[in-house]
Amino acid sequence: MKQERILVTGGTGYIGSHTVVELQQAGYPVTIIDNLSNSNADVIDGIERITGIRPDFVEGDCTDIDTLRRLFETYPDIKGIINFAASKAVGESMHKPILYYRNNLNTLLNLLDLMGPAGVKGIVFSSSCTVYGEPDENPVTENAPIKKATSPYGNTKQISEEIITDVINAGAPFKSVILRYFNPVGAHSSAEIGELPNGVPQNLIPYLTQTAIGIRKELSVFGNDYNTPDGSCIRDYINVVDLAKAHVIAVERMLEDRSDAKIEIFNLGTGNGVSVLELIHTFEEATGVKVPHKIVGRRAGDIEKVWADPAYANEVLGWKAETPLADTMRSAWAWQCRLRERGIM
Ligand code: UD1
Repeated sequence: MKQERILVTGGTGYIGSHTVVELQQAGYPVTIIDNLSNSNADVIDGIERITGIRPDFVEGDCTDIDTLRRLFETYPDIKGIINFAASKAVGESMHKPILYYRNNLNTLLNLLDLMGPAGVKGIVFSSSCTVYGEPDENPVTENAPIKKATSPYGNTKQISEEIITDVINAGAPFKSVILRYFNPVGAHSSAEIGELPNGVPQNLIPYLTQTAIGIRKELSVFGNDYNTPDGSCIRDYINVVDLAKAHVIAVERMLEDRSDAKIEIFNLGTGNGVSVLELIHTFEEATGVKVPHKIVGRRAGDIEKVWADPAYANEVLGWKAETPLADTMRSAWAWQCRLRERGIM
């Protein structure tokens, strides 16, 4: 077991839980803080079943600075933070902007405020390809221009990146790695953890797997009149375990001072653009399960096409998204079937 403890905020959530598994498997002691607003404490059991180690868990809200202060006192060995604690539904953020700004920004400010005095060496921040808006060209590199955010959710990601930059440029005694995710999908190969959306899913894969298992009647494909080969939107779907592994590398890079830069930004994607219709086809081929679907009108605010140029992350982090999309689709399906077995969905 390593000496440096990693604090994972939002560690019972979708990407957080997969990252906790990878951290533990790399030998790091982990403390999770999560307010369970969009996840369940059972996730801790799933993590323990995979790794044989139960991460320490604090039920609490990172927007409350006193809770965080106590946490840093309890765990003086925290040397790295991976911050997943945030609200993430684009549509909801349009109706509840204050909630989004408060949760996402206060959490970050509190962490940045306390981590220096607590002796933490670095923070990994979950950002999103949403900062590029509709990119002028694909694949998108880290140097592509930032476009005006189209939702409060997207704006919190942009503002958060600026806050981190300002704080570090002002001489803060720690580093940051900002990771811009493309579209994270799939589940752990054990099917012990995965994505568990609340209510009707807004994202493609949970809607697709819920349709495949019969919870939803049919999947709506939002538009087939885009300027793409088959007319449906193109995204870069990245396996969540591949994504989680990049976080371990990123946090280690700061702990071991492997870079002179105090802030680094990486795109995390596969480099492959896949359309909605291609994705449905890949799922059907990989699982042998049909997905009833129909073409409907475009969804307001959707980007036509965006996929990553992951070359910088590949070179500098020595990381690559390796899981074939078909395997990722099988993992998403296995997870959906496990939820059914457990009577959850
Ligand atoms: C959105 C956000 C992104 C955020 C991500 C995860 C934007 C521009 N992007 O990504 O910042 O990180 O959610 O919360 O706001 N689709 C269907 N039918 C469905 C659902 C989706 O056809 O029922 C299509 C969409 O039109 C899109 C693709 O599937 O082309 C992926 O959609 P989704 O999973 O919602 O992710 P994004 O919109 O790409």
